[in-house]
Amino acid sequence: MFKVTPWEVSGKIDYQKLIEEFGVSKITEELLQKLPDHFMLRRGIFFAHRDLDKIIKARENGEKFYLYTGRGPSGKIHIGHLLPWAFNLFLQKEWGTELYFQLTDDEKFLFNEGLSLEDTKKLAYDNALDIIALGFDPKKTTIFLDTENMNVLYPVAIKVAKRVTFSTAKAVFGFDSSTNIGSIFYTSIQSAPAFLLSELEKRSIMCLIPCAIDQDPHFRITRDVAEPLGYPKPASIYCKLLPSLAGSDKMSSSSPESSVFTTDDEETVRRKVMNAFTGGAPTVKEQRLQGGNPDICSVYAYHFFCFEPDDDRVKGIYDRCRNGSLMCGECKTMLVDEINSFLLKHRKKREWAKEHIDDFVKRI
Ligand code: TRP
Repeated sequence: MFKVTPWEVSGKIDYQKLIEEFGVSKITEELLQKLPDHFMLRRGIFFAHRDLDKIIKARENGEKFYLYTGRGPSGKIHIGHLLPWAFNLFLQKEWGTELYFQLTDDEKFLFNEGLSLEDTKKLAYDNALDIIALGFDPKKTTIFLDTENMNVLYPVAIKVAKRVTFSTAKAVFGFDSSTNIGSIFYTSIQSAPAFLLSELEKRSIMCLIPCAIDQDPHFRITRDVAEPLGYPKPASIYCKLLPSLAGSDKMSSSSPESSVFTTDDEETVRRKVMNAFTGGAPTVKEQRLQGGNPDICSVYAYHFFCFEPDDDRVKGIYDRCRNGSLMCGECKTMLVDEINSFLLKHRKKREWAKEHIDDFVKRI
């Protein structure tokens, strides 16, 4: 049993099943040929889409389109969050595309009992540092907080809201009569940026949303209302969720030992990785004889998802684990070093971001 909704991800995710359940399309070989080369595409980390072919066509025809993604500021940033953002960065660099990055301080206030609006706003500004640190182009990037941009979002959001019934919201998100009315309305706020440029420029401008698959329910609604409102349907490209170090299927900020935060120091990273769930055999002797199982290993997942852009080296780790020549200790140490060398640079850029936040976090 697994569950993937915008608010809860649990269990061992069967992505093939999810493709069918959500009604998204698999990224085919043919589409891959038309996309720039990136390890997340080659390895099927970005694996599904809606209307990606239309974006490719728009690009070929020199039509304008833009990228839209977002973050719900409910806590600190962990490495799993960075995956889709790094892919947005890659597309921005490859294609020179403008990016709108929504920080939903309203969403996390509405959905989290324990967070005040001041908390989520503060977290939004904190999270923005991690986004900026990745290296987006300030001239082409607009990071915005919902509560600071309602003047532009609200007119679009109410147009969406007028076309979404309570019964649709209940069916898509599992709401009931005890759900607060802000939460019920919220999906229209997440729809709005998908229509924003069309609205601002008063012409039809397409949008591509690169993000994790758990956000698709929102964008199904967005796509359903788009054409009746005179906007193009947004396209999307979806990635898998980075498994947690505890071995379940997504890193969760709520169990801090099972995810690596961008602000973790070297010793913390070491401790978390050393305690991670692996596919290793009970004893070294058995592992030498029978090999380990990288397919269930969270440490291997990290190598695969994030820290090893070289396919041959990933394959090397996989094969050496299987044939019993790579022990978990060595594999974990490699990962600790990779994460720490990434975070060392990331933290410096995060400090730099503090001085440059106004170049990125803007009023639309
Ligand atoms: N709802 C998302 C979250 O909880 C935040 C978000 C808003 C988002 N707009 C988005 C995510 C667009 C991906 C794409 O994190």
